[in-house]
Amino acid sequence: MADRIRVMLTEEELDKRIRELGAQISEDYKGESIFLVCILKGAAMFACELAKRITVPVTMDFMATSSYGSGTTSSGEVKIKKDLDLPMEGANVLIVEDIIDSGNTLNFLSQLFKDRNARSVRMCTMLDKPDRREVDVDVDYTGFTIPDEFVVGFGLDYAQKYRNLPYIGVIENPGE
Ligand code: IMP
Ligand code: MG
Repeated sequence: MADRIRVMLTEEELDKRIRELGAQISEDYKGESIFLVCILKGAAMFACELAKRITVPVTMDFMATSSYGSGTTSSGEVKIKKDLDLPMEGANVLIVEDIIDSGNTLNFLSQLFKDRNARSVRMCTMLDKPDRREVDVDVDYTGFTIPDEFVVGFGLDYAQKYRNLPYIGVIENPGE
């Protein structure tokens, strides 16, 4: 049976919030440049849209991690599947994530980038599910705080599907 998807955040709401985040980040980094780290694959769409709204110089790099299998529960352990291409020593790193859930991914990455001698490390997430937090992380920029529901779209997948939806939605009948 085809999945039924209920819209949680529309394309317009996402666009408006991304412009606000871009403006705030541009203000906060005035006179500096940003080393934007996009966490693949989920954050790809958000990171590109956000980068377009930032007015200070931006370098983009991409990294892939995994803490999830093909299902919807976290394994807790974070692995690097693809590392960055560029050195980040002395850079103002802005980690861009799709969603913060247990907090394991962002916790692991912020420590890793500090160890790699970034000048500063900040985090920006499109979505935050605070109910599911296992480790405390200091997120600097949050798009939307959402309830504990499994969401898809705007980069987020369920078993690699639905990343291309232009909105954020909830599958109402998963696995049916
Ligand atoms: P954390 O390490 O538990 O914070 O998990 C973060 C990662 O889990 C995200 O980057 C997503 O890839 C994935 N994830 C967590 N919640 C969802 C969801 O509701 N939909 C799709 N992916 C999710
Ligand atoms: Mg992800």
